[in-house]
Formats: sequence, structure tokens, C-alpha cells
Amino acid sequence: MATKLAIISDLHHFSKTLGTAGRAYELRSGSDQKALAESGDVIDSVFRTLGESDVDAVLIVGDITNDGERASHEEMREKLRALRLKKPVYLITSTHDWCTDGNARRYVGAEVFHDVETVGGEELADYYDEFGKENEISRYKTDRGFYSRCFQVSDDLRLLAVNDDMDGEGGRSGYSPAHLNWMREQLAAAKKAGQKIIAMEHHLLLYNLSPLINKGQSISNNYETAEALADAGLKLIFVGHSHMLRTTEYATPAGNKITQINVGALCGYPAPVNRLTMEGPKAYHKVEFLDGFMANGAFADKEFFRQHTANVLLHLVNAAASGNKQDTMDRLDAHGIRLKESLYPVLHIGAKKLQKLTVGRAGRLVNCLTLGKGVDRAAVKALKNDRLLPYVIDLFLCVFDGSESAKALPDAAKTIARDVGTLPGRVVSKLPVGRSRKESIRKITGQIEALVFELVDPAGPDNIESVIEL
Ligand SMILES: [Fe+2]
Ligand SMILES: [Fe+2]
Repeated sequence: MATKLAIISDLHHFSKTLGTAGRAYELRSGSDQKALAESGDVIDSVFRTLGESDVDAVLIVGDITNDGERASHEEMREKLRALRLKKPVYLITSTHDWCTDGNARRYVGAEVFHDVETVGGEELADYYDEFGKENEISRYKTDRGFYSRCFQVSDDLRLLAVNDDMDGEGGRSGYSPAHLNWMREQLAAAKKAGQKIIAMEHHLLLYNLSPLINKGQSISNNYETAEALADAGLKLIFVGHSHMLRTTEYATPAGNKITQINVGALCGYPAPVNRLTMEGPKAYHKVEFLDGFMANGAFADKEFFRQHTANVLLHLVNAAASGNKQDTMDRLDAHGIRLKESLYPVLHIGAKKLQKLTVGRAGRLVNCLTLGKGVDRAAVKALKNDRLLPYVIDLFLCVFDGSESAKALPDAAKTIARDVGTLPGRVVSKLPVGRSRKESIRKITGQIEALVFELVDPAGPDNIESVIEL
């Protein structure tokens, strides 16, 4: 019989008791893909749907709360208890649930307060222990005091739910040798029992866009670990953290393939709910996007998430273009960008030009600077009267939505994006510098190329619907 799972990640629940209105909250929210004020309403809506659905279990891949706030944890545990009355729930916590480095905040008017009570690592280790406990086969205590667990999810399916928080080399996310050995033992035990086994960890196991973006999002020794797990029989792992919906494959030198499904963040665009149906040796993966949710008695549709994420760029550009210097400096600060106030006039003029800049004008400018070799002239001509900014926003959204936004792009826009992506590499190849210097710069430009190409034309399995052999 088929086993049906729903997998979600990065819920980042933020209790409304911590303040979700006023200037300080607005600046925070406007600089972040996460829709914090709406997190509880989104979670309620998704849990309601999943509770009434035909799924056999719900898996949650970490970052349950925004920054480990006690109020957020308490609300989440109640929501999870209500869901568990209808469906078994298996979850892992991750760094945002405890390792907050004083990050937890509350907002009152224009002021930010850091006096928020959090749930520390020691307490968190047991805080969600009740979920899945009746189906637990084995557990391992990490050097950080957290638990990795192996669960019996259905008659023939096991789940390795591992906590990778700061247990890797140099205190990075990952696994100590003993932890990895325990994981290998669970994989071997499942094989011996003739059972299928899948896994979930919070940080990335495989790079899914480019090392340029993914290096800090991945566990330490990620490819060595992927090789060890795949060669021990793991074929499918769910990960979160990057907030990027993307499916990636890797084959070990011994020829064993492992698929990583990066689940994407429920708390923001595109609010994905991943479904997995296991039938015989095949697992069918399909992503459903949240159509909308009820908030304060009104329905917010899926455009809400898209606009919220687009606003991360748009609010900044619009503020700079408007001439409101203080608003611009505040928004830059919220993005973590420190700009000398003396540079504001340049930013203001640049933002005003960017608002109106057409593809034709931008293309001509690039081609003028590169003696006509920058971007394809026919492609620029095809879009010459279109504004550039909406295309930039679409590419930005592709980072989060598995390149769904690229599907609607005209071919000419994709051609221009690819040309822009290869431009740094082409420029470097003409530079009068030594071969070894050139090669080291080419490593970076190669990663830029890979990133743009992956965003425009994703390689490997489809990010929204795929079949995995188990
Ligand atoms: Fe997250
Ligand atoms: Fe995370």
C-alpha cells in the first residue's frame, strides 16, 4: 500500500505577542522573505488542510520558530499537538530554534527590544520529544546534546531525522564521526529488515545553486558525507534552511545516487508543501503551493507571498528613488547594509534611473561598454521597451521558487540573463593577467555562470514534480 507524506520546512513561527506592527516591525518585515506577522495564520491554514488530507504523516525539517522565542515555541507546540490528534508528526529543530545569539526581538512602535525570553538548547533537546515517540526505533545524542532519531513511519518505511546543529568539523553544522556511524547503522538495519528509509536534516547536503550561495548553508564536509550516506544506501534526503525550493542529484564515485529535496520555506514565497507518495520502489514527489490563508478574518491569496518577497528589493529601490533619505538609510540598515550618508545622492539618482530603465537602454549601455559583445542585440531589441526591473524581480524570485518564475520569461529575457551571467568570465579571459591568476578568477566567474544558468534553466530533476527510485 502507498505511504503518503507531507513535508514542510522553515515555518519560522513568530508570536504576535512580540509585536507585528509599527515602524520597527515594518522595517524588519520589509527586508526579509519571511512573512513573520502572518506565520501563525499560514501554519494554522496548512495544518488544517493536512489534518483533513489523506497523508499518513507530516514531516517538519527545522526552523520551527523565528528565533527561538519562548512565546513562539509555546504556540507552536500547541499547534503541533492539535495536528498530532489527526496525523503523526515527525520533526527536527535547528539553529533558529535555540542558537539565537541575542537575535530574538520584539517590536513596539519604532523601537526594537532584545529582552525576549528564548528556549535554550538544553531545554529544546526534549521540548518536542513527544512527537513521533511511539514510533521511535533508535536515538543518538549529539555532542551538542540534541537527539537524532530513527522512526518507523509505516510498515515498510523508516525515517532518519537527524540534528546537524554544530556537530560537524570545527563546530559547523554536520556530523561527528560517531554520529555518522550511527546513521550508517540505521541505514544498514533498514536494509537488513528489507525496509525503505529516507532522511531529513536541516542544512544542505548538496549544493543546489552554486557554492557561491550554498557554501555557508551546507553541512561541513558535505560531499564526503553525501558519499558516505549514499554508499550506505540512502537515496533520498529532505533538507531546509536555504528557503530555496530545489531538487538536486549526486552520484558517488561508486555509482550510488542520492537525491536531495530542498523543501523551501513555508513562512514565505512560494509557501510550498511537498508531497511524497511511496509506491513499491518509487517515490513520487510533487510540490503544492499554498493558495492562500485566512488572516484577521480576510483571505490573503498567493500573490501576497510573491509581493512580500518582491518588496524586499522594491521597497529599497522605491525609498531611494523617492528622495526620502532617512527612510532609505533605515531600510539599508534593516538589510544590514552600512552606507556612508555622503553616498546617498548617487544612490538616489541610480534608483530613479533604475525605476525607469528599459531593457533596450540597459542592453545598449552594456554593449557600448563591451564593444558590442555584451548581450545579444536581437534579444535586447525584442524587449527594448520593457522595464528591466520586473525581469530582475522574476530572477530574484527564481531563487526561492525552484525557477517557476523563469517559466513565464520570454526566451529573449533568458538569452540576456545568460549573456549577463557569462559576461564576467568573458571579460576576465581578455584581461592582461597571468594564467594562474586568471584561472583563480575564473573559478568565481564560473560559479556566477552556473548560478545564472541554474536559475534560468534548472538542470537535473524537475523541482516541482519528480520520481525517485528507492
Ligand atoms: Fe530558515
Ligand atoms: Fe535554518
